[in-house]
Amino acid sequence: MGRIVTIIGTRPEIIKMAPVVKALDRLPHEHVLVHSGQHYDMLMDRIFFEDMRLREPDHQFALQDQPPHLQVATTMRHVAGVAVGADLVLVHGDTNTTVAGALLANKLGRVLGHVEAGIRSFDKTMPEEVNRIVADQLSDLLFAPTPTARDNLRQENVRRGVSVVGNSVIDALRANLALAVRRSDILEKLDLRPRGYLVLTFHRAENVDDPKRLARALRAFEAAAKAAGLPIIFPIHPRTAKNLRRFGLEKRAGTIESLRRIEPTGYLDMLRLEKDAALILTDSGGLQEEGCYFRVPCVTLRENTERPETLSIHANVLAGTEPARVAAAVRRQMAVARTWRNPYGNGTTSRRIASIVDKTLG
Ligand code: UD1
Ligand code: UDP
Repeated sequence: MGRIVTIIGTRPEIIKMAPVVKALDRLPHEHVLVHSGQHYDMLMDRIFFEDMRLREPDHQFALQDQPPHLQVATTMRHVAGVAVGADLVLVHGDTNTTVAGALLANKLGRVLGHVEAGIRSFDKTMPEEVNRIVADQLSDLLFAPTPTARDNLRQENVRRGVSVVGNSVIDALRANLALAVRRSDILEKLDLRPRGYLVLTFHRAENVDDPKRLARALRAFEAAAKAAGLPIIFPIHPRTAKNLRRFGLEKRAGTIESLRRIEPTGYLDMLRLEKDAALILTDSGGLQEEGCYFRVPCVTLRENTERPETLSIHANVLAGTEPARVAAAVRRQMAVARTWRNPYGNGTTSRRIASIVDKTLG
């Protein structure tokens, strides 16, 4: 019997690792779940444990509002005492929690597994891209979601330990969709009809940390709503909410009638919102993937994406944040044929990861 230590800390890690945690819990190994505390608000953290019926972490740390370098350093310090007893450390994605866990496993000489390995935006100005590269270079088991991700790893001379397993975003979604449809009353609460609105998420550092860029993005949202002839539902990430306040842009956001700002939603509400949306506008990774499953077209408010599979099937287009370009992309995606096949697998990713972990531990 071995000891697995899984480290999570942010909203997308909780969501996409929930099915993996459940699959690992069923193995005949000890499985310790650690939460770094990187996300901490009720609506960024706890609500997902409840919505997804995920067990409590065995170790919960606090990291509130630390700058990025201290998120990494402090997480390494906090988790070291747990990771030292691990045979295998598992991390997910591309956050500061991910890179802290990866460095820790490496320094301690533990086997490291990386879920969602090999995806690349080829833009090292993004903190996430650097985190991904570091985690992948240090990993022994690399769980690539698609063949493209595997090929990216090959380009970086990472060949051993790579398995293409799909993306656990689909496992999470399939495990919760029926419940979301039954339980979520978000459409009724917001008085929305199916296909009668766009859903927007927006929180990338490069988009929201600069006042001019954020002001331009507000103009782009206005242009998008006009192009679609529909209102936009905008659950606001706390980073974006804080920056709108800090940059004095709250009032301006309030003048855009078609932009309905709401608190971040739980997972079940988000699934319902996405499933019935006319279009998704986003700079989030997860929403680009989830849109593919729902056959809801997406406009990505970035210049690049580490999810190129979504572009080649025309489920998604890159539009940046320049208003006229975003409006044109919205018009194009509103008319796209919704016939593509989801490129992220059939919901067996968690089971495949657990099986490889089990074999590795022997
Ligand atoms: C992080 C990840 C990003 C991921 C996103 C998911 C890194 C480098 N980035 O970005 O890849 O897409 O999570 O949402 O790890 N805040 C709160 N309450 C919270 C969490 C955050 O108020 O529960 C505010 C704080 O002011 C914090 C800021 O948001 O300083 C940014 O949070 P942080 O975790 O550093 O980065 P994210 O932008 O959330
Ligand atoms: N999500 C949610 N409520 C929200 C915004 C996002 O439940 O208000 C979910 C979404 O369905 C997806 C995940 O959070 O599964 C994406 O996380 P996020 O956008 O924070 O991070 P990213 O995917 O960009 O790393």
